[in-house]
Amino acid sequence: MQFQKLAAILLLLAAVGALPPPPGSSNCSTASGGVDIPYPFGIGPAGCALPGFELTCRDTSNGGKKPFLGHGGHFELAGVSLSDGQARVWNNISSYCNDTSQTIMDVVSFADPYRLSQAGNTFAVVGCQAVAVVGVGDSADNIVRFLSGCVATNCGRRGDRLADDACSGAGCCQTTITKGFNAYQVEFQNYSTVFNSSKDIYNVSRCSYAALMESSSFTFRRSYATSSEFFDANGGRVPVVVEWAVRNASNCVEARKNRESYACVSMNSACVNSSSGPGYICNCAKGFEGNPYL
Ligand SMILES: *[C@@H]1O[C@H](CO)[C@@H](O)[C@H](O)[C@H]1NC(C)=O
Ligand SMILES: *[C@@H]1O[C@H](CO)[C@@H](O)[C@H](O)[C@H]1NC(C)=O
Ligand SMILES: *[C@@H]1O[C@H](CO)[C@@H](O)[C@H](O)[C@H]1NC(C)=O
Ligand SMILES: *[C@@H]1O[C@H](CO)[C@@H](O)[C@H](O)[C@H]1NC(C)=O
Ligand SMILES: *[C@@H]1O[C@H](CO)[C@@H](O)[C@H](O)[C@H]1NC(C)=O
Ligand SMILES: *[C@@H]1O[C@H](CO)[C@@H](O)[C@H](O)[C@H]1NC(C)=O
Ligand SMILES: *[C@@H]1O[C@H](CO)[C@@H](O)[C@H](O)[C@H]1NC(C)=O
Ligand SMILES: *[C@@H]1O[C@H](CO)[C@@H](O)[C@H](O)[C@H]1NC(C)=O
Repeated sequence: MQFQKLAAILLLLAAVGALPPPPGSSNCSTASGGVDIPYPFGIGPAGCALPGFELTCRDTSNGGKKPFLGHGGHFELAGVSLSDGQARVWNNISSYCNDTSQTIMDVVSFADPYRLSQAGNTFAVVGCQAVAVVGVGDSADNIVRFLSGCVATNCGRRGDRLADDACSGAGCCQTTITKGFNAYQVEFQNYSTVFNSSKDIYNVSRCSYAALMESSSFTFRRSYATSSEFFDANGGRVPVVVEWAVRNASNCVEARKNRESYACVSMNSACVNSSSGPGYICNCAKGFEGNPYL
């Protein structure tokens, strides 16, 4: 292990040509705002993170520092998982109220090494007269609109069609997102216009809500459809799952050809091809624990 550490340090020196602090040095933070930051992620001067995995620890409006992706990035990091190459970041819940004219929300996009996880996320919509679609694309100016979406409606006269945990049309709908895109945009439609209906539907709350979010974090409650509770209880934001990988080699076989940049430096590490595009992640070999990137 000593040798591995030394080798990693030498490699870094060779790569940067200066004297960066090695990962784990006292000048690299390993946590921010209570969130653990394991290498290849890092906060601090060059060398604290593998290139692309830099984070910044910044002040937030509600006091206290929190980790954010990249240097000027607006995604606050909620947590990192090394073994499955995933991270969770905070995403805003979109709302469409009866007095708002804005229907098209901001584009949310990720850049390498991050990709939006298809399997880990769902597009959830709550409301009693809500039509929301999600467009996807490669970048902010290349969104294919109306790619998918769903309708949440018909809550029933006293909300009697609503049921906790049942997100299947009455007051709530959800759909999977299209795989392989990195930018998405939520867009609401005017229910009355779409369905050419001015019919008074009972129990319509002032706002409808939609969010691209971690599937396992979404549990529908009856009150979500008829009030602002979905938004309020979550402080207006929800976690979304991104998949990361070392992406400058297309897979493990290619990565091993360039020993100097191969990220799985621990003797007891195993390379795993990324399941979210080109690249790879490192795991510990069976029976070993620790950080395979060190
Ligand atoms: C940490 O940073 C301080 C001040 O910038 C510097 O003097 C010191 O050499 C650095 N230590 C390491 C281990 O890089
Ligand atoms: C991959 O990235 C590492 C660090 O980010 C860099 O040192 C290396 O040269 C890159 N390798 C290739 C094949 O681009
Ligand atoms: C969420 O909204 C806040 C306040 O408008 C904004 O500062 C932040 O950048 C947004 N976050 C994302 C991920 O869009
Ligand atoms: C939706 O369309 C109806 C009928 O055209 C209109 O009365 C209503 O103000 C619209 N709602 C919003 C939020 O724009
Ligand atoms: C709306 O639904 C809630 C339950 O979600 C119920 O308590 C309330 O009485 C309903 N309001 C009307 C006007 O039906
Ligand atoms: C919408 O509904 C009105 C009255 O119900 C009807 O006269 C009109 O033709 C409808 N428009 C469309 C486009 O279906
Ligand atoms: C929006 O909803 C609120 C509360 O349900 C209601 O008081 C208000 O009149 C509505 N505004 C419009 C423009 O429909
Ligand atoms: C990774 O992908 C390459 C190219 O498709 C394949 O040859 C290799 O067997 C895969 N798995 C590992 C662990 O290298």
